Amino acid sequence: MTYNNLLTEVNGQTMIITINRPRFLNALNQETLRELEDVFTKIYEDDSILGVIITGSGEKAFVAGADIKEFANFSKTEGLQMANFGHSVFDMIENCPKPVIAAVNGFALGGGCELSMACHLRVASENAKFGQPEVNLGIIPGYGGTQRLTRLIGKTKAMEYLMTADMLSATDAEKLGLVNYVMPLEELMPKAFDLLKKINQKSPMAIAHLIHSVNAYFDAPDGFEAEQQEFANCFETEDFKEGTTAFMEKRRANFTGK
Ligand code: COA
Repeated sequence: MTYNNLLTEVNGQTMIITINRPRFLNALNQETLRELEDVFTKIYEDDSILGVIITGSGEKAFVAGADIKEFANFSKTEGLQMANFGHSVFDMIENCPKPVIAAVNGFALGGGCELSMACHLRVASENAKFGQPEVNLGIIPGYGGTQRLTRLIGKTKAMEYLMTADMLSATDAEKLGLVNYVMPLEELMPKAFDLLKKINQKSPMAIAHLIHSVNAYFDAPDGFEAEQQEFANCFETEDFKEGTTAFMEKRRANFTGK
């Protein structure tokens, strides 16, 4: 499999997917999402693959978010399409019948944090930083962040991190239950492999049913629908234009609330 924005490698029965746009801190553009959809379609169908690890290229970032430069001029309709598609790809990851581990090797912001939360387990390097900084841009998370962060760390802390856009260190993420383990960078992939090795000794059929069953605990599709609509609503605002322009001009946004 050859992709423009992903590296894929099969190691034993594990598919390693590396988001590979290091020049842009692995920001997720639409093409990368389409490629993720394609690789997961193959993973679903390929009986020889028993588990998946997703990581980012380089030592600085897992994924620094959705590609701001790509969506900065999107209309409300395009914003809704963007959220719909992101949700469908991330749902596919969350519902994958094989264990999916995020090996978070640096910034996991916005869509990157959301990608990691769609995975079944998260292992983070000590330099990893998590966050949902969308409100700095005059938008809200649009790939499931308002729902999955709240589910994983609870409403109290989720509300704080979503509203302040503060980043969480790897240690704080572990304390709050956002990540399973924090490791030195060089031990990140070995830890992800160790976890998969243990899981792969169990019945793949039982693991598939287990994933389905645990996910069912959180079945509340209305929240996800509300997020997509609210995300799209932001695209019609002056604050969205100001927030994305300020990012590209490398300055602080001056929001007016319009
Ligand atoms: N979308 C598009 N491009 C991005 C990006 C994103 N989400 N995140 C980083 N980049 C690009 C930068 O624009 C820069 O490209 P340039 O050199 O052409 O300007 C390059 O990646 C390197 O990023 P830079 O900001 O110079 O690195 P830094 O170490 O100073 O800061 C971050 C790192 C992660 C703090 C900063 O890049 C950032 O805040 N990114 C946006 C995070 C975000 O808001 N994500 C949510 C999006 S919905």
